[in-house]
Amino acid sequence: MKREMTIGFIGFGNMAQALADGLLLKGAAKPEQLCACAKHWDKLEAAAAARNIHPCRTATEVAQRADLIVLAVKPYLIEEVTASIRDLLPGKVVVSVAAGWNFEKYQAILPSGTHHISTIPNTPVSVGEGIIVCESRHSLSEEEYEAFEALFSPIAVIQPVETSQLSVAGTLSGCGPAFAAMFIEALADGAVRHGLTRAAAYRLASQMVAGTGKLQLATGAHPGAMKDAVCSPGGTTIVGVSALEEKGFRGAVIGAIDAIESRRS
Ligand SMILES: NC(=O)c1ccc[n+]([C@@H]2O[C@H](COP(=O)([O-])OP(=O)(O)OC[C@H]3O[C@@H](n4cnc5c(N)ncnc54)[C@H](OP(=O)(O)O)[C@@H]3O)[C@@H](O)[C@H]2O)c1
Repeated sequence: MKREMTIGFIGFGNMAQALADGLLLKGAAKPEQLCACAKHWDKLEAAAAARNIHPCRTATEVAQRADLIVLAVKPYLIEEVTASIRDLLPGKVVVSVAAGWNFEKYQAILPSGTHHISTIPNTPVSVGEGIIVCESRHSLSEEEYEAFEALFSPIAVIQPVETSQLSVAGTLSGCGPAFAAMFIEALADGAVRHGLTRAAAYRLASQMVAGTGKLQLATGAHPGAMKDAVCSPGGTTIVGVSALEEKGFRGAVIGAIDAIESRRS
């Protein structure tokens, strides 16, 4: 694979734009390395112009230009768009971001010789702080996988998982931002109730969540130990922890993952 590969997005909606924005922000790719197609030309042209990347009229044009193709249409359209570019896929690296499309499903529809990997990114990739869960079963060569990692690791923690864990890993990382945002909003509401300005409350709550996550990643500390470290005996934090436990905080979060996984199965 070339050092400076061309990355082509088939579908340029929320997820593809988040990936492109992260890659450009972190300098992992230059605008001239990126191209994209979508359904509505005017919308695509505007989104491409905003990023100085090349808009393509068709998926065929993307597949012709790109070394690495990101399939970023809605899951129900995957079969249709890949059928239209079948002949161009062998020899390319295909990165799927479509929910529910695992290795086995792609094997059934892609021509042999297509090297593909199924992933589930989350939206914080747009600021270079994302997660890309990927199925450990894939057909990329060692060199291609290294290139995939080199491209995306500046914008995301890349976490390979077994096929059976793809769904729940995607739930945690992909739905989690909604839960985290609710937590941030609720923390801020609590602080605003006690007189902190709204702007300061959001700023502090968001940085607190980001910083706590980074601390855990950097140290590998058990989250329970991190909680204990902030709770001095008879102190104030344990009062808050106790109030959260009374309201079933952790049970509610576990239940949210359960509810999503039950709906998916
Ligand atoms: N959003 C997330 O947080 C998230 C997380 C993980 C995975 N994903 C996956 O990412 C994929 C895209 O989701 P999204 O949220 O980005 O959806 P989206 O915003 O609706 O984007 C879908 C894109 O596909 C384009 N499109 C539709 N028909 C097409 C066709 N025939 N050929 C080429 N492009 C076509 C749309 O074009 P127009 O805009 O012109 O209609 C749009 O650019 C899904 O498979 C989803 O499972 C999303």
